[in-house]
Amino acid sequence: MIDISGLTKTYEGGFQALKQVDLQIQAGEIFALLGPNGAGKTTLISIICGLVNPSTGTVTIDGHDIVKDYRAARGMIGLVPQELTTDAFETVFNAVSFTRGLFGKPANRAYIEQVLKSLSLWDKRNNRIMTLSGGMKRRLLIAKALSHEPRVLFLDEPTAGVDVELRRDMWDLVRTLQQDGVTVILTTHYIEEAEEMADRIGVINRGEIILVEDKAALMCKLGQKQLTVQLPAPIEQIPDSLHRWPLNLSDDGSALIYTYGREGEPPNIAALLGALAAAGIDFKDIHTEQSSLEDIFVSLLKEGAQ
Ligand SMILES: Nc1ncnc2c1ncn2[C@@H]1O[C@H](COP(=O)(O)OP(=O)(O)O)[C@@H](O)[C@H]1O
Ligand SMILES: [Mg+2]
Repeated sequence: MIDISGLTKTYEGGFQALKQVDLQIQAGEIFALLGPNGAGKTTLISIICGLVNPSTGTVTIDGHDIVKDYRAARGMIGLVPQELTTDAFETVFNAVSFTRGLFGKPANRAYIEQVLKSLSLWDKRNNRIMTLSGGMKRRLLIAKALSHEPRVLFLDEPTAGVDVELRRDMWDLVRTLQQDGVTVILTTHYIEEAEEMADRIGVINRGEIILVEDKAALMCKLGQKQLTVQLPAPIEQIPDSLHRWPLNLSDDGSALIYTYGREGEPPNIAALLGALAAAGIDFKDIHTEQSSLEDIFVSLLKEGAQ
């Protein structure tokens, strides 16, 4: 659905915000572009949506080049921008209808009613935008982005600073859109959002896509599990007799930590405990935990910084 090839962006003043981005996005998938502030997420989205000119490279949407075939490409896209904009005096209903008209679509009151209802904005349809709360304004941005029935929806940091209810509504909406075959690309610096929503995740850092992976594969490939054996009293060092076990001692000496990959063999706990007993080490508690996408993300960025 989206084909990005050799895309770079150098802003006036010489700052290179995107370096040679190549990325394909499949029809109907939910793709999360995950990266810290300043990574280039908004720049990338803005280029795809025709708001910022690329320095080099091409982007096509369903075969339409975003520069040469701008109208066709843009007509397929809905964008929920990161920043709130305020055309204050218009009413909610008119603003959404007007946006639809800008894309050359015939008026369709029933569709706009459905969109406003799905965003809990129907009650507010005759209110002027300036009277809306921050959360309502954000809902309106989504309604405007959906006004012309786009096949691709971009959400730029959709839940940064929004309340729990709006976040939940947004996620529900994204799932409904996906069922209707809409391709959804969201940017986020919240790992939990990517983890919850996405089919595939691309990690961007300093203008470079450093990894693109199915979410499940990413978790599987890079995720780790840890078995922690809590000791009744701290020890100074791990006895030599335990050298064949991949154990680390916690900083305070009160726990032994056994780390293994998700796909690796889980430890034979009975054998491990037997070896501990033979070494004269008792235990108070054992538990296992999985690394979250958050841990993976942090370690990826660390690798990139080296
Ligand atoms: N109009 C601009 N002129 C110069 N630099 C810019 C401009 N817009 C963004 N940048 C810089 O490009 C980098 C990427 O910005 P952005 O795409 O907004 O990142 P993100 O959305 O991931 O936080 C940042 O360092 C930002 O300061
Ligand atoms: Mg941004």
